[in-house]
Amino acid sequence: MKLAVIGCGYVGLVTAACFAELGHEVYAAEKDRAKLSLLKQGLSPIYEQHLPELLRKHCGRKLKFCDSTAEAIRDVTVTFICVATPCARSGETDLSGVDEVVEEISRSMRPHLLIVQKSTVPVRTCEAIREAMEKHGVLSHSFNVASNPEFLREGTAVQDFLYPCRIVLGADHNSSLRKLERVYLPLTSGKYYRCPDCIPGRSTEPVRIIATSSKSAELIKHASNAFLATKISFINEVANISELVGADIHEIRAGLVADPRIGAEFLAAGIGFGGSCFPKDLRAFRALAERAGPGFDLLSEVMRINRRQRTRFQTKIHAALGTLRGRRIAVLGLAFKAGTDDIRESPAIAIVRYLLQQGAEVVAFDPAAMPVANQQFPDGALHFAKDCYEAMTDADALLILTEWPEFAHLDLKRALKLLRSPLVIDGRNLYSPEVMKSAGLRYVCVGRSTDLPVKGYQDEPLTTHVVCGDQDRVESVSQEARG
Ligand code: UGA
Repeated sequence: MKLAVIGCGYVGLVTAACFAELGHEVYAAEKDRAKLSLLKQGLSPIYEQHLPELLRKHCGRKLKFCDSTAEAIRDVTVTFICVATPCARSGETDLSGVDEVVEEISRSMRPHLLIVQKSTVPVRTCEAIREAMEKHGVLSHSFNVASNPEFLREGTAVQDFLYPCRIVLGADHNSSLRKLERVYLPLTSGKYYRCPDCIPGRSTEPVRIIATSSKSAELIKHASNAFLATKISFINEVANISELVGADIHEIRAGLVADPRIGAEFLAAGIGFGGSCFPKDLRAFRALAERAGPGFDLLSEVMRINRRQRTRFQTKIHAALGTLRGRRIAVLGLAFKAGTDDIRESPAIAIVRYLLQQGAEVVAFDPAAMPVANQQFPDGALHFAKDCYEAMTDADALLILTEWPEFAHLDLKRALKLLRSPLVIDGRNLYSPEVMKSAGLRYVCVGRSTDLPVKGYQDEPLTTHVVCGDQDRVESVSQEARG
């Protein structure tokens, strides 16, 4: 099929490259000149596994890039809107990017175009697109609108696209559903998985389609992200209790995930979720629920726990080190999660900012995110190391803030020699406390027995003070915590 993809951000670019991989002829529009120039050369502007090989394979052949919506949609039957839908000040989704594209489509489309909204939007956006098209003078029978939400995780987006656990098609007309079913046929028939040069993935089972109304599809996306974020905040709260009572969150997790009703994923305790999706989508979903009537207090609590999780971690750093002024701190990980160079709403970046604000000298290493992070700290306040070991040399503490697999396999003997003080504060629980102890390292982590004495469940007022940078309070609490 001939398909257009409007917007080559994370979602758009992965979608365009994967549609080409499925055998479609894809025209992708991108307005950013620098990005477009890279794409036309077959180079990926983002760090994403498998994307470079797909671009090399399809660019200029099945996948063509251009700078205008009009050009991309000229000859196609289905167009996917994948432009950014950021969060407005009110918490609601800013749909101006979508509005702009819809207007462009209305000016240049051929009859019988199916417009598919792919980037995350509030419920009723398809309806609003339909109304806008008619307002721009397009006859209602000459186009259709559908929702096809994406469930791509950064870092594994290509595999998530080609090996999805479900494909949600929110189409209010049978003809739209049939067209979208054809788009995904190579996955639902299993044909793609039989290709000798397919991207390897988790399962070769044909994929299931969930056909819904456009409104339900839009809500499925928001509800999915909200549910996953809720799981993370839930396990983080359990971890905090576990820590206080001397239990072990790894053991607790093993006990939970054995129950298939609970499920195994998104139950890793840590320093909270970040990224460009969960925080933004939770705010948007809550705003939408408030506008719809009843509100959604649970989401406010999920966000509050998430913020507190980070400040709780900062409190642990103080409890272990006392004042941070003049301390040299090694940070492993800046990206909001492993497998990406994305630092948007990264808890790691927030913690680094806090350390710097407290007067610490911070030396960081991240396998992918250092160039992007460098732009966020233009004054040179944050130092970058060439590897984990350079970062930890002469450091008063080693902090693990992103769950990159390589951080879970450090040479602990070497770490012990290089660190000025043998202290590891792990926000991602990558090690067992026993292993660290036998390596001679003092280990502080999340939800497991820790080298820090803990007193009472009092982190709420404490973290408030820490956030505000109340050094005296922090100091007195640290002293108290150290007993
Ligand atoms: C998320 C969803 O997982 C995708 O399904 C969705 O399509 C995407 O948002 C989107 O809306 O576009 P993503 O933001 O790339 O994907 O990252 P996740 O893998 O979901 O991780 C989000 C955050 O949660 C990260 O900071 C990660 O470290 C944290 N996390 C994840 C935990 O703290 N614990 C866990 O057990 C899992």
